[in-house]
Amino acid sequence: MAPILTDSGNPASVATIGVFWGTDAMQFATRLQNVETSAIRELFKLLGKPGIISFAGGFPDPGLFDAEGIRISADAVLANNPGPVLQYGATEGYEPLRQGISAFMKAKGAAVAPQGLIVTTGSQQALDLIGKTMISPGDKVIVEAPTFLATIQCFRLYGADLIGAPIDADGVQVDALERLIDEHKPKLVYLIPTFGNPSGATLSLERRKRVLEIAARTRTLVVEDDPYGELYFGKPPPPSLLALSDGVPGSREWLAHCGSFSKILSPGLRVGWMIAPPELLARATMCKQFSDAHTSNLTQATAAHYLTLGRMEGALDAVRAAYAERARVMAECLRSELGDAITFDAPQGGMFFWARLGQGRHAGEFAKRAIDKLVAFIPGAPFFATDPDLSTLRLSFATADVAKIAEGIGRLRQAL
Ligand SMILES: Cc1ncc(COP(=O)(O)O)c(C=O)c1O
Repeated sequence: MAPILTDSGNPASVATIGVFWGTDAMQFATRLQNVETSAIRELFKLLGKPGIISFAGGFPDPGLFDAEGIRISADAVLANNPGPVLQYGATEGYEPLRQGISAFMKAKGAAVAPQGLIVTTGSQQALDLIGKTMISPGDKVIVEAPTFLATIQCFRLYGADLIGAPIDADGVQVDALERLIDEHKPKLVYLIPTFGNPSGATLSLERRKRVLEIAARTRTLVVEDDPYGELYFGKPPPPSLLALSDGVPGSREWLAHCGSFSKILSPGLRVGWMIAPPELLARATMCKQFSDAHTSNLTQATAAHYLTLGRMEGALDAVRAAYAERARVMAECLRSELGDAITFDAPQGGMFFWARLGQGRHAGEFAKRAIDKLVAFIPGAPFFATDPDLSTLRLSFATADVAKIAEGIGRLRQAL
């Protein structure tokens, strides 16, 4: 009988549970054995405390949404073209949006025809479709250590055996990655090369080229997840793996790219996209058809219209300036308030600081004391697919204003 996880995390058989609950107890899919509710969710329950300053979430600042531009766009699509946008639509996506995303990607240096991409319900769905189309139980998948928690959970749901590749401030360490690929022959490698979540790290140009060479040489699918690339402070990051792939023979055939409007326009629209080699794209489209048929035409058309307004750059400049200032203040406060107790590399974009406590301090215990002082962050351990580093933590600077950031880091000092 298949084991299931009890509340204490110990395996028990369905038969044993049946003794207590009767044999009619609901029996869930065995794939759920591979995932557990994240410890982070437990922490989030505490965030409702009045007066708490939260650096925990990964939410963009709603005050920076271009609500006016989105309203104009939604009004326009409903006034001009209500039939098709309120009707069922194509699984691949709303055609004007596919064209808009193609132009958006071209402006970022990546030539992609509208037929070379599908629109997804957030990039989260693109990751799920990649899991669904590529991962069979027991398949090896390499992820950065640390990486995006939802990807860990999603790939585990499909039975992936995850392997962590080491990273530093310049992103994944390519020599180690190459060794891991040669040793494990993974089904795919998942990377967040630009302003990673949670790491804040950005893969250097040289390493990007190496990753593409390795993908082509070993014929290993590399998935580039890029929701944060536009959120840079000062100079733009290196071009995406996708943009660089034309210069590395054979690499484009082994590259999938996930993009999203969530961090640059609004996550509530739930509009993302996936660019992939034709065979993978076709299978992902088939799986999407069985799943949600298509992403909301209303939000797709709204996003498509928004792209024609010419407001994106102005709105993004405001977001970049605000986040850059918040990151600067957070770095300053962390240095002045926490000093040697914490080390970090200040990010050059994105939404996160990734930090490490000194002297063997445990970030989970620190998080509990911090909540008592009414400030929250996320301990880093759950972001590791294997071998968690218990001294790490993630702080988001996107949602709190600079005064709250200063106040919150002051509270962190009291919690040390
Ligand atoms: C690295 C990464 N990938 C994907 C997503 C999912 O974004 P969405 O589904 O809103 O496009 C997020 C959201 O936080 C993220 O941090």
